[in-house]
Amino acid sequence: MSPSRCSPAVEEPAAARRSSSPPKADYEAISKYYDEVRPGRPETLAPWVEALAAILGGQKGGTLLDVGAGTGRFVRPMEARCGASVIGLDASPGMLHRAISKDPLGLWVLGDAQALPIRPSAVDGAFMVMVLQHLADGPAAIRELYRVVRPDGRAVAITSSWARLAETPVGLFPGVRRLDRARFPSIPSVCRWFREAGFDPVGVRYLRIEVRGARVEEVVERVRRRYISTFALMDDEELARGLPVFERRLRERYGPQFDYVNTFAVVWGGRPKAVLT
Ligand SMILES: C[S@@+](CC[C@H](N)C(=O)[O-])C[C@H]1O[C@@H](n2cnc3c(N)ncnc32)[C@H](O)[C@@H]1O
Repeated sequence: MSPSRCSPAVEEPAAARRSSSPPKADYEAISKYYDEVRPGRPETLAPWVEALAAILGGQKGGTLLDVGAGTGRFVRPMEARCGASVIGLDASPGMLHRAISKDPLGLWVLGDAQALPIRPSAVDGAFMVMVLQHLADGPAAIRELYRVVRPDGRAVAITSSWARLAETPVGLFPGVRRLDRARFPSIPSVCRWFREAGFDPVGVRYLRIEVRGARVEEVVERVRRRYISTFALMDDEELARGLPVFERRLRERYGPQFDYVNTFAVVWGGRPKAVLT
């Protein structure tokens, strides 16, 4: 993972803006198939866990909060990697139901990232993975991370960068780039939200996931199964209309089998130490 300072230069033009009210994905419906289309295989999760642990590690015996934990893909892997207890919080009863049925002894909380039902300074660190695009009030969620993390603790948000949205093969599906640019905040905005919440220092790193030997039929099938929430925002007709166009574009651009890189932004902030007066 390449470290870098929180610099707008690596991101989209300043004039571009995310919509103030991103379209809302229905996670009650998505919860019924999420684990099938996004299986949390250890080898798939490992680079994400390492990216989180690089910032949140060193919490042995402490408590971490996974905000927007979904079906809990990162909860136990982060516990194992960091030696901490991890609380999984999500706003969707359906997603949490899945998490609880897989792991009844886990620490699960139903709650909103923008108004966390957690006491101030209660956790040693917090993280959210691919959640910001769902929130109407991203800055409020980052302020909440600041509030619940103890002084000298850290918080991390992993999200798609707009650079990735421009590069990913999935962007060849008609309408995807428009939809996702309306949902995902820009990385400079997320860094600003961290700074405005009070985090200092604030940084961003880029997590590069290399995908080798992707076959066009497999990629099309994953999209048909709505493996990311962008496709859950499309109705059946829009999806059916787009699939043949997508497949043709993929073959024209890449041929039947191809390698590509998905780049995610890992924005983090440290809550300053308490100052005794
Ligand atoms: C793409 S999933 C990511 C789940 C998990 N972090 C993972 O990577 O597998 C986004 C999650 O954010 C949750 N979410 C959406 N809005 C939320 C909110 N306001 N507060 C808490 N969670 C929310 C959804 O219910 C969903 O489980």
